[in-house]
Amino acid sequence: MYKTQDYLQQHLERFTHELLELLRIPSVSADPAYQKEVLHCAEAVAKHLEKIGMNHVEIIATKGHPIVFGQKIIDPKLPTVLVYGHYDVQPADPMDLWHSPPFEPLIKPTEIHPEGAIFARGACDDKGQFFMHVKAVESMLACDELPCNVKFMIEGEEEIGSENLGLFVKEHKTQLSADIILVSDTGMLANDVPSVTTGLRGLSYVEVQVTGPNRDLHSGLYGGCVKNPINALCDMIASLHDEQGKITVEGFYDSVLEISRADRDAMAKAPFSEKAYKKALDIEETFGEAGYTTPERGSIRPTLDVNGIWGGYTGEGAKTVIASQAFAKISMRLVPNQDPEEITQLFQRHFKKIAPVGVRVKVTPHHGGQPAVTPLDSMGYKAAAMAYESTFGKAAIPVRSGGSIPIVAMFEQELGLKTILMGFGLDSDAIHSPNEHYGLYNYRMGIKTIPYFYKHFVELSKS
Ligand code: BES
Ligand code: MN
Ligand code: MN
Repeated sequence: MYKTQDYLQQHLERFTHELLELLRIPSVSADPAYQKEVLHCAEAVAKHLEKIGMNHVEIIATKGHPIVFGQKIIDPKLPTVLVYGHYDVQPADPMDLWHSPPFEPLIKPTEIHPEGAIFARGACDDKGQFFMHVKAVESMLACDELPCNVKFMIEGEEEIGSENLGLFVKEHKTQLSADIILVSDTGMLANDVPSVTTGLRGLSYVEVQVTGPNRDLHSGLYGGCVKNPINALCDMIASLHDEQGKITVEGFYDSVLEISRADRDAMAKAPFSEKAYKKALDIEETFGEAGYTTPERGSIRPTLDVNGIWGGYTGEGAKTVIASQAFAKISMRLVPNQDPEEITQLFQRHFKKIAPVGVRVKVTPHHGGQPAVTPLDSMGYKAAAMAYESTFGKAAIPVRSGGSIPIVAMFEQELGLKTILMGFGLDSDAIHSPNEHYGLYNYRMGIKTIPYFYKHFVELSKS
């Protein structure tokens, strides 16, 4: 991979500029107002795939946003790597908290990224990360060092649940046939502590509605006489955790696969500072399920969190009113063996059961996803570990992540393929938040490391 490494080093500046152009396109999948921009972004991605020499580049229309596909088959007898990523991004709001406009990328150094980071929505999640693969493959192709076949599938609906991609995968198993799936859409522990993500949590997401009286009421005339839906919702939500931080939804933990003491001990070897964690978030104390460490609570344990809550009067000044309705959005992160549909049902049953007299409750399920784990003894994992060793000069630590990428479990279910999660972002990169950014160092290291994955994967496949 000498030529490839030399080539990518020479073209890094252009690689960065091409990414900046991609980041200018506000491909917000959740908001219909951006539909044209999402399509425009798909077209830009397709053009890049064509330019680097992919064949059969297609923009595949779906009921929602399109999927971009491209492939280079150099020899059908050789292994095939299927690269997955997403070109859609989260909405940028709250806008006023951005220090520079979210779709006008700006390079600025930070404490953690002294050589500069790109500030823009999607810089890390996931444009900056999937584009590393485009540039790594460009480099291998340009140097005639691509050692196997490669397929790209970059979707536009990851941030809204990948529903249409799920259907596409089910119906196009031959087109997607491969030996391994490679994804950069997660993180690593620190810039000097490379890690490979070996697990993702599943997700169950629900919206709840609590309805009391048939109209908003004067809080003086009716206060104290009717069940206030907002008060009721708060009580109900408060009761979803006990004093030990355990989730009280009946049956919630029944199917959880407990991990062994040995695995937990291995996990504990990854460097983690509770003090630095608290400082970074400006909190006095962490909080979570009793009996587990902070990294465990955030990866191998299931959780329940209110993501949004509203109702009543929230405008300027005061309005004395008892609202007729109260609402909340609640996410539950799930671990291996927990089934999102089953958990949603358990939640629904429980939430209705704990509703006090005087209010009615409605629970609406949103998208969900299955959890996933990568076995450490697989060829793909070994190839990834060796790749990190080549560029970082040290072994990568296996880390289970708390985030979710629902399509990963579908890949296994529908295509029978394992996914290797080579993420190069940092938790501090503020993905989904204002001032999302991605280190230039991380971008470069990703582009450098990816070709070694191909090399080692093909070599291991031969033996
Ligand atoms: N790339 C993230 C997931 C992620 C980030 C995993 C960092 C591990 C580390 C992805 O784009 C994402 O945001 N997923 C959503 C789920 C989806 C169904 C909206 C999530 O985890 O909230
Ligand atoms: Mn992502
Ligand atoms: Mn995301």
